Amino acid sequence: MTTSWNYPDPALQDELKKIAEAIVAPGKGILAADESVSTMGKRLQDIGLENTDDNRRKYRQLLFTTCPIIGDYISGVILFNETVYQKTDDGTPFIECLKKRGIIPGIKVDTGVVPLFGSNDECTTQGLDDMAKRCAQYKKDGCHFAKWRCVLKIKSNTPSIQALIENANVLARYASICQAARIVPIVEPEILPDGDHDLQVCQKTTETVLAYVYKALYDHNIYLEGTLLKPNMVTAGQGCPNKATPEQVAAATVTAFQRRVPVAVPGVTFLSGGQSEEEATVNLNAMNQYPGKRPWTLTFSYGRALQASVLRAWAGKDENVKAGQDELLKRAKANSDAALGKYVPGSIESKAGDTGLFVKNHAY
Ligand code: 13P
Repeated sequence: MTTSWNYPDPALQDELKKIAEAIVAPGKGILAADESVSTMGKRLQDIGLENTDDNRRKYRQLLFTTCPIIGDYISGVILFNETVYQKTDDGTPFIECLKKRGIIPGIKVDTGVVPLFGSNDECTTQGLDDMAKRCAQYKKDGCHFAKWRCVLKIKSNTPSIQALIENANVLARYASICQAARIVPIVEPEILPDGDHDLQVCQKTTETVLAYVYKALYDHNIYLEGTLLKPNMVTAGQGCPNKATPEQVAAATVTAFQRRVPVAVPGVTFLSGGQSEEEATVNLNAMNQYPGKRPWTLTFSYGRALQASVLRAWAGKDENVKAGQDELLKRAKANSDAALGKYVPGSIESKAGDTGLFVKNHAY
């Protein structure tokens, strides 16, 4: 019978809900630092550094040893597998550095995007096979939430039904494995900003994608109170001549969510998706000033929009570590203010503030 399923036991519900709620506590959000080895390599190359284990470690050390006040703004950090097991120069595990700052460690568990055969350049995401085992180990090692990124593309005939169904289902299956391992799944169906589509096309596509995702989460008995959503903001495509204002982005995004995201979901943690640091902050702020109903916390889970200035200030030099950390603190504070709808546009300057961070067909 279709109405026969089991809720997680009360202790598991309680644990998942508490983790999810702590991540989206007022004025807090996530630092996405889970770049794969190859993506991190590109970031390091931009500042003239080789993509070695130790250079990646040094960069993550800079992030995770930032002044403890960072914990007032950042509630969670998403890590990449190798980073979970790395240590600072003095031998402190990174996970301990985060815990000391009151930051919850999280882990990227997907193993990347692969093409969907027969589709028009669409994709799905893989990594389910040994995920239960990996999740059990990550939980023991101190990770309490996870991320899995699916990618959807706006073109004249996409997303296709094939991509909509497949990506929703794989996200649901991932969420189910996470919850069984006492890990909060961040469900990330990212619609890429590539294309010249306008704001309305992005809104409709977002509504469609979210409808498929929440139906699949329902089909897989996911406990929504113990999940978070990590979507794109609704924006016009990168190539669209009509850029939307922050107020238009906020109205389109919140309207799409009102229609498609259940109230039981505690929070929405946006990706920055190639927006400049300041743009991502100002749009989040506008979202939190939007006059309509907003029953979920709306906050950030930014990668590029929290790290561009840090990388620029650090430039791979030991003497610039503090300068890099100061940039992280500035952007984290700006986004914390935006999560409360209290950011004054332009009030916090940073090294890469207005630089566009768009990457074509972005891989993480
Ligand atoms: P950006 O904020 O750089 O888009 O990335 C966030 C992320 O985690 C994508 O999966």
